[in-house]
Amino acid sequence: MGSERITLLSSREIDKMRQAGHLAAELLDHLAPMVKPGVSTLELNDEAERWTQKRGARSAPLGYHGFPKSICTSVNEVICHGIPNEKEILQDGDIVNIDVTPILNGYHGDSSRTFLVGNPSPEAKRLVEVTEKCLNLAIAEVKPGAKMGDLGAAIQEYAEAQGFSVVRDFVGHGISHIFHTAPQVPHYGVRGKGKKLKPGMVFTIEPMINEGTHEAVVMEDGWTALTVDRKLSAQFEHTIAVTKDGVEILTLRG
Ligand code: MF3
Ligand code: CO
Ligand code: CO
Repeated sequence: MGSERITLLSSREIDKMRQAGHLAAELLDHLAPMVKPGVSTLELNDEAERWTQKRGARSAPLGYHGFPKSICTSVNEVICHGIPNEKEILQDGDIVNIDVTPILNGYHGDSSRTFLVGNPSPEAKRLVEVTEKCLNLAIAEVKPGAKMGDLGAAIQEYAEAQGFSVVRDFVGHGISHIFHTAPQVPHYGVRGKGKKLKPGMVFTIEPMINEGTHEAVVMEDGWTALTVDRKLSAQFEHTIAVTKDGVEILTLRG
């Protein structure tokens, strides 16, 4: 994937990405008030699927390389790709990442947020705040001529200064009518290294930040990625476009 060519999107295509991105943001806003102690991750999934269909869109994760559900729900020590399940009931003090990717008119809007369930510990809240700031610091690096390593470095420097670690095994990705394509977007790295950003590039930035070690292990189900030390992990994701003079976040509300 690292050596594949990076497609530059036309303004017409970016407009479609923006429509799909708005939908992703609205879906997360719609699910937010449901995130309370007692709700199952399957209930969140089913509401997401129903809402997405009502908007004339489809859920990209459903059936993607065999993924069985419409969204990913990653609770506490789950780093990413958690599978919604009726037996998984959110508890006061949990943190849960909800990752949605509606496809609207053929284009993908990929975004996730980590929500607090009830009242998590101060350390859990700090992890979630630091992770959201990591995403925003990386977005602030995006402009034509910047290097991919600048984004990763911004995330890694801040996360590690806060005593946390950056997951290596999962990266951001180019996205368009294809869910996952070039470029790869590592959330760690060295300033000045990596591919040069150009107007029309569209990709996700989706840092996963761990309380303990950065190492991940994938469960028997082939999807659920956990921290090896079972400490907490948080994630935030936006789909962004490199513009003529900077960056546009595509997964914001319209
Ligand atoms: N939305 C995830 C991402 O940010 C991908 C989920 S793929 C699935 O790239 F198959 F696990 F749903
Ligand atoms: Co996603
Ligand atoms: Co993504």
